[in-house]
Amino acid sequence: MTNILQLKEISKIFGTKSQEVILNNVSFELKKGQILSLVGPSGSGKTTLLQIIGLLDTPSSGEIILNKKNITNIDEKSYDNIRRSNIGFIFQYHHLISEFNVLENVTLPLLVNNYKKDDAIKIAQKTLKDLKLSDKMSFLPSQLSGGQKQRVAIARAIVNKPDIILADEPTGNLDNKLSIEIYDIISDLVKKNNISCIFVTHNINLAKKADKIYKLENKTLSQF
Ligand SMILES: Nc1ncnc2c1ncn2[C@@H]1O[C@H](COP(=O)(O)OP(=O)(O)OP(=O)(O)O)[C@@H](O)[C@H]1O
Ligand SMILES: [Mg+2]
Repeated sequence: MTNILQLKEISKIFGTKSQEVILNNVSFELKKGQILSLVGPSGSGKTTLLQIIGLLDTPSSGEIILNKKNITNIDEKSYDNIRRSNIGFIFQYHHLISEFNVLENVTLPLLVNNYKKDDAIKIAQKTLKDLKLSDKMSFLPSQLSGGQKQRVAIARAIVNKPDIILADEPTGNLDNKLSIEIYDIISDLVKKNNISCIFVTHNINLAKKADKIYKLENKTLSQF
């Protein structure tokens, strides 16, 4: 299987005066069609690592290779492009725009990526249909259940056909049955579309369903 992402000895230090090392020489590879789970105690740096991978934050040292290209020190504009077209985020709190309905929320990433409005709407509708949300397209996020909101958040994350889905405790607010359902939806999408996913969770039973489990602890990453 081809590597989509490679992290080489990534370290992250926060603060200028009292420097706190959060990640120390973290390395790993993510392959196409692979779903990795990431576990670790609260405060161990899972979100920090995901934000570095998602180019929302920069590492203090180390290299990030995406699609065989070293993207560690590229300019902000190129970061923006990669973020918009290669990476899909799903968070614990869905982060849907409350004033927009379901269809509008899912159409937005396509419009940002310069799709024509008609095309964007068609693709968003198809994506929502795949996620069994066709009957909720005109609903506002506040009119949805927790599981439905997360399904919309998944639709929004994958509508651009990203290479990588970064999911930061996407089931943190859901009960066990819904958590499994959401995990399975993401896993199916990853396998069907041959994309890749890093799935952060505190739920060890969910983590075990992934192709590999990684654990962040004491600033380092190891296979669990
Ligand atoms: N911008 C920042 N400035 C300084 N310290 C930060 C910053 N962001 C995160 N940290 C610190 O980095 C550490 C790791 O935080 P992070 O959010 O990555 O943990 P986590 O593993 O995702 O925890 P949780 O499971 O609770 O979500 C924490 O000690 C946090 O205080
Ligand atoms: Mg976190």
